Amino acid sequence: MTDPANEKAPEKTECRICGGAVEEFFDFGRQPVSDSFVTPETAGREFYFRLAAGICADCTMVQLIEEVPREQMFHEDYPYRSSQSAVMHRHFEEYAQRLLATELAGEDPFIVEIGSNDGTMLKTVQKAGVRHLGVDPSAQVADFARAEGVRALTAFFQDSTAREIAVADGPADVIFSANTYSHIAYMDSVFSGVDALLADDGVLVIEDRYLGDIMGQNAFDQIYDEHFYLFSVSSVRAMARTFGFELVDAEPLTVHGGSMRYTIARPGRRTPSPAVAEHLQREQERGLASPETFRRFAANVRSGCGELMELLTSLREQGRTVVGYGATAKSATIINYAGIGPELVPFIVDSTPAKQGRLTPGSHIPVRSPEEFSAPYPDYALLFAWNHAEEIMAKEKGFREAGGKWILYVPDVHTA
Ligand code: SAH
Ligand code: TYD
Ligand code: ZN
Repeated sequence: MTDPANEKAPEKTECRICGGAVEEFFDFGRQPVSDSFVTPETAGREFYFRLAAGICADCTMVQLIEEVPREQMFHEDYPYRSSQSAVMHRHFEEYAQRLLATELAGEDPFIVEIGSNDGTMLKTVQKAGVRHLGVDPSAQVADFARAEGVRALTAFFQDSTAREIAVADGPADVIFSANTYSHIAYMDSVFSGVDALLADDGVLVIEDRYLGDIMGQNAFDQIYDEHFYLFSVSSVRAMARTFGFELVDAEPLTVHGGSMRYTIARPGRRTPSPAVAEHLQREQERGLASPETFRRFAANVRSGCGELMELLTSLREQGRTVVGYGATAKSATIINYAGIGPELVPFIVDSTPAKQGRLTPGSHIPVRSPEEFSAPYPDYALLFAWNHAEEIMAKEKGFREAGGKWILYVPDVHTA
């Protein structure tokens, strides 16, 4: 197995999963790495690439046309922290408890998490005294996990990493990965690692944003550098097959604006749940892989961005104040594609300490602490963290009470 870091991206647009032809359906143009929050000194030195997405005509996997070198995205300065959302905290705690009662209920169980970040999920496993190992290349977030008592390895999960873990700790009963599997372009190396590490009867569980919800809600900002793949039941089933595994369950989740939890096992080891066939049927009925779906999506992206710019421009002309809420990675797509700068949104508030005091990638909008949101409240707040709308609106209920209005752009541009 070659080191994926040294592999060159293919010249033609060949599917990274099956080698089939990838048909491009949207080009966002030159975009900066989404989580590269810069300082006044490093502003302008962001890594840029062409953000465009396509779908494989053979296996239906939606994927980016250009791959950003992984070291440009995941490094010591990577700021994203899972623990910033109380809803996500609860979500992971509940699932960890479920795993502890089922897959991890045997003798001396072992779980590996790919993309363990600050240990939000593994903390529950650690407290239960169950053997675990988090794998994450971003050193700062892995340090936060270790501070919680979680065992974490600062590394990219790939074939070689998995083999080392298998030798040191033995087979894993569960390999879990939330909102990370889609970030890894080199699936051949990852699946060969899973094959080396997973117990014969073990399961690989992947949670990720669901293509059906992204298309259904026109959530185009879910397309950015880190989201190399956008998964559907159809494409994950094909991917599992390509690498010698079987998709045995698919469970819809409400988190992050609509996600899916996929359970994958070695072929014939588990009885597939009827949910898999049901979702496949539904995806086919709604034409989730059809060119028409992507044409409509492309038209909606253009009209949505146009409407948002009109709204922001007219609010500025009327002398209304607008502040952004949530310096999300996905906001880099809409901000840089639509061309939103500090003249329209003078600052964005965000609870992540590592983002505060920095500037957003490309657009250089300052990021400030949520304490500044109410000092004084703006007239409008543009909710870039729309996937956490319920949690944020509840936390900031004083804003609406003071007459403030939220601006949302998913599923369409509206105020609330
Ligand atoms: N699982 C968490 C974090 C998601 S953010 C959650 O759902 O909230 C994605 C994480 O994947 C980042 O912490 C990033 O450093 C990590 N990551 C990226 N490539 C990886 C790889 N090859 N192996 C393991 N982790 C990876
Ligand atoms: P998120 O939507 O989870 O992910 P991504 O960066 O992948 O698009 O990011 C949510 C951001 O919003 C994160 O930077 C933390 C911030 N946030 C707040 O500022 N306050 C909150 O109450 C919540 C839930 C998130
Ligand atoms: Zn393919």
